[in-house]
Amino acid sequence: MREDRSVAARTVPRFTGRPQPLRLRRLLLSAVAALGLVIGALVGLPAASQAAGSLPCDIYSAAGTPCVAAHSTTRALLSSYNGPLYQVTRASDGARTDIGLLSQGGYADAAAQDTFCADTTCAITKVYDQTSRHNDLYPGPAGTAGAADRGADAAELSVTAGGHKVYGIWISPGVGYRSDGAASGTAVNGQAEGAYMVASGTHVGSDCCFDYGNAESTPADTGNGHMDAVSIATTCYFAPCTGSGPWVEADMENGMFQGDNGSNTANTGNSSTYVTAMLKNNGQTTYALKGGDAQTGGLRTQWDGALPTRNGYRPMQQEGGIILGTGGDNSNRNMGTFFEGVMVSGYPTDAAEDAVQANVVAAGYSGQTNVPNGPQGTITGPGGQCVDVAADDTGVNGAAVQLWNCQSYAEDQYWTHHSNGSLSTIGRCLDIEGNGTANGTLVELWDCNGVGGQVWQQRSDGSLFNPQSGRCLDSPDGATANGTHLRIWDCNGAAAQKFTLN
Ligand code: AHR
Repeated sequence: MREDRSVAARTVPRFTGRPQPLRLRRLLLSAVAALGLVIGALVGLPAASQAAGSLPCDIYSAAGTPCVAAHSTTRALLSSYNGPLYQVTRASDGARTDIGLLSQGGYADAAAQDTFCADTTCAITKVYDQTSRHNDLYPGPAGTAGAADRGADAAELSVTAGGHKVYGIWISPGVGYRSDGAASGTAVNGQAEGAYMVASGTHVGSDCCFDYGNAESTPADTGNGHMDAVSIATTCYFAPCTGSGPWVEADMENGMFQGDNGSNTANTGNSSTYVTAMLKNNGQTTYALKGGDAQTGGLRTQWDGALPTRNGYRPMQQEGGIILGTGGDNSNRNMGTFFEGVMVSGYPTDAAEDAVQANVVAAGYSGQTNVPNGPQGTITGPGGQCVDVAADDTGVNGAAVQLWNCQSYAEDQYWTHHSNGSLSTIGRCLDIEGNGTANGTLVELWDCNGVGGQVWQQRSDGSLFNPQSGRCLDSPDGATANGTHLRIWDCNGAAAQKFTLN
């Protein structure tokens, strides 16, 4: 469960100037992509692959600002790429496999993940860098502001891209990724760089930090200017802010800058389902922030001007590490959903950035991004409350399983019912304490281990029956309050024992 929060939706175009030749090119790219989709629709098939030579790293490279890192679980970001996108690790036996592409330069092979992870859960334990630099990302080590990260539940969020099922990286508090020390080719000590990510504009939060980009080479806050990562969050770090976000921001360490010296009321936010969030920084004097709807249209410039005058940002002092889903010191309390992102060497042209946005739109992302929609569903019980794990999606062994208000964004309210009868969420199973069988034994979350205390059968009277104990999941005295710790009890057909697997 999580604390309540809300996200307002608003978009107000401000700066729209773009060179006409580029606009023409963008229109042509969009037209080609649209033609492909129409042909695909006519023959009843999704587009087989993406247009060669037009993927984000092809575009940046042609503009003289080559990618030094390219990460995605959904598609290739350079047309020559035909390697793995990410690695998943299976909870049941610890086995690992790489998830690659359906074709060179194409979309992810999500079916390979589904087959490998059938009847168990998988975590994303590595995100491959598609460039030749091998700047791969792993669940990050403990930092000065956060315990060691865990890998995302690999099946938490499936969407489609180009008509193909693909998975995003669902970042919950405690989930995050980092390069192993300083990465290869990334900007350091005031060098120019650019970055973008496609992320959810609706699965967002205001804590620190849902970032992608340059960070300290070790997970510690080493001072102003030591980071240069793009972020999308409802974090108003420097008031005043306009609206309630989320905003595309620059995390340059000890500040989420919306432009200018931190506060920039001209940054009106980007709250579309999918957001293209872009940042570039020449390392010496200037930075720019842009946001766009990753499903349609162009980019809006939220800031293009001087670097902050606060101490330490002129020049920048980047360290060249890479983070995904956390802050530089491994502050890993925020949330978001990541689909793709790249970092480039040099200060990208506006034309290249517009072409990248056109390619992102042509990639054809579709589907909700703020409701876990993998093979999971909620379990509603007495009072219409959801079966929930105590604490904020952190799900440690022994965490109480309880009733709580249903929250569409709470990862620990989405359960998978496996063929062996177990029910799992966030990588662990609904378990009877001590594998007990006595009336009143409480239930908890525990590593899936196949014992009798983890088997649950949905029966026609609405009960969830545990065969080993011969008893049913039960809410003590029929309580419905938030925090009611569930238990097993003699099956009695009462409302206290009616649970629906949705
Ligand atoms: O700048 C915001 C955050 O502050 C950084 O990501 C983190 O390192 C520090 O706590």
